[in-house]
Amino acid sequence: MSLLLNRQSFGKSENAGNALSKEDAHNLLIEWVPNARLRLHMQQVGHLMKCWAHEKENLSDAKQWHWEMAGLLHDADWDQWPTEHCKRIIEELENRNVDPEILHAIASHGPVYFGVEPVSAMDKMLYAFDELSGLIHAYSLMRPNGYEGMDLKGVKKRLKEKSFAANVSRDDIQDACNRASILMDDLISFIIPRQASVVGF
Ligand SMILES: [Fe+2]
Ligand SMILES: [Fe+2]
Repeated sequence: MSLLLNRQSFGKSENAGNALSKEDAHNLLIEWVPNARLRLHMQQVGHLMKCWAHEKENLSDAKQWHWEMAGLLHDADWDQWPTEHCKRIIEELENRNVDPEILHAIASHGPVYFGVEPVSAMDKMLYAFDELSGLIHAYSLMRPNGYEGMDLKGVKKRLKEKSFAANVSRDDIQDACNRASILMDDLISFIIPRQASVVGF
């Protein structure tokens, strides 16, 4: 099964600056993603994207929402149409005249699978947060107190255990950190406290 998108251009330049309203994005998520666990994953990645855009990139509120929206919807088609991931959500957002930058970030969140390279900071951070966020959440679920008291050392230990969250590609995580020029330790330390505050809907 190939998920290659077989194209490199997404959306129309005249839609630059356009995003869904928060309400529309949430409604789409609820409609398309019955699986609460997967919805939570996207909310977590969305929140991390927003925090990064705010704290590290100093972007405007509107741009912070673009980053968050890319995270919030990046796997929106995975639950119901895994063989069409992420083609289907991209087409839906193209039909809704969404900014090409948001579409490109979604299209490049798995370069090996979709055949689209992360280029912008938004692209690179979505790729970097995706798998690592999932592994850290899986770790929180096996800890008696969840995120409470979780530290960098514990996460690194889990990363080294190949059997833990075996579906999470360690190579992808390292590749993403290299591309974003971020140390994996710094990224883990950024994620833990911020992700801890996300409550699913
Ligand atoms: Fe994905
Ligand atoms: Fe994901």
